[in-house]
Amino acid sequence: MIGDRINLRSRWLALRNRLLANPRFQRWAVDFPLTRPLAQRRARALFDVTAGFVYSQILFACVQLGLLPFLAAGPRTRDELARHLGLDAAGTLRLLKAASTLGLVEPLPDGGYGLGAQGAALLGNPGIAAMVEHHAMLYADLADPIALLRGEGGPTRLGTYWSYAASAEPAGLEAGAVADYSRLMSASQSLVAGDILDAISLQGRHCLLDVGGGEGRFAASVAARWPHLRVQLFDLPAVAARAQERFEREGLGERAQAFGGNMLVDALPRGADLISLVRVVHDHDDESVRHLLAAVHAALPPGGTLLLAEPLAGTPGAEPMGEAYFGFYLLAMGSGRPRTPAELVVMLEQAGFVRVRQRRTRRPLLTGLITAEVG
Ligand SMILES: C[S@@+](CC[C@H](N)C(=O)[O-])C[C@H]1O[C@@H](n2cnc3c(N)ncnc32)[C@H](O)[C@@H]1O
Repeated sequence: MIGDRINLRSRWLALRNRLLANPRFQRWAVDFPLTRPLAQRRARALFDVTAGFVYSQILFACVQLGLLPFLAAGPRTRDELARHLGLDAAGTLRLLKAASTLGLVEPLPDGGYGLGAQGAALLGNPGIAAMVEHHAMLYADLADPIALLRGEGGPTRLGTYWSYAASAEPAGLEAGAVADYSRLMSASQSLVAGDILDAISLQGRHCLLDVGGGEGRFAASVAARWPHLRVQLFDLPAVAARAQERFEREGLGERAQAFGGNMLVDALPRGADLISLVRVVHDHDDESVRHLLAAVHAALPPGGTLLLAEPLAGTPGAEPMGEAYFGFYLLAMGSGRPRTPAELVVMLEQAGFVRVRQRRTRRPLLTGLITAEVG
């Protein structure tokens, strides 16, 4: 039965692909009114995949040159823009025209430019500009994707940036080695925290431990949303020190405490009835993840809950974000892989968790959420 279905599917794929690759069929499909919209959508999608790296570099230029915040204050003439960007008139116009086709800026009838819809959306999430800027490293690392896939590319820039990824002694990393990635994570955390906290209630919980919690932005958001909760954070010592500073700066006092250590070696602090792993699991290879989930399970009391939140592979409507973007990002970084909810459910159950459930979040592209309990 299954063999018949596989045969049928491969015959259908062969037929479909022969047709799609046939120039006569392609011509017919764009001429025929009923197939035209689909054929045009497919052609556009193929072009976008082919040209995507150019679009990304146009966005990079806009971010580096501070174009979008400049337009956020109101429309500008081309002369004002040229002065702000430090480009000549021709370079300015070339960038503006390109950026307007991407929705980043919008041409106005008087020849000036305003902020475009995508530009406004980008500014609404301050983490995106920081992500775009750090993509310069990924762009360089991906210059020879085949060497990267073969593991022959040598040290990568992202591997150096995410200093713990390749470190044999991550707990010994110094402040300077963790500062850049900690700031980036913090800048991109606010929407993530909002979406997680809108998806679940922490009523009736006493203490949250955020493992791999970075500078403490998520833990601080939890503390702000649920004033009855105590929050703890565990991260590498140099990162935990940054979190402790934030807790003190934000006046969290006794309610918040940061612990330094190596989550893959050291026991996790006890006492929390809720543990979160936010954008942590996908950074690590399977063996480390198994170890980490077992450590989290051991640290929770019966009835305790794990919140596992990160972009998930196979997210409907956002498939390339998982296996394409994170698949290659993590390859360049040198550790981890994107995982589907089904893969995580298996790993969580193997670690002893029960009632493993995927929760609906507002922006699954940004944050998927799985909860799991200790029986
Ligand atoms: C991708 S960041 C996510 C930070 C934060 N959870 C967030 O979403 O903004 C991963 C975090 O895990 C921490 N980390 C990585 N390896 C670790 C280890 N072996 N022990 C403790 N923390 C570790 C890093 O320092 C970093 O803060």
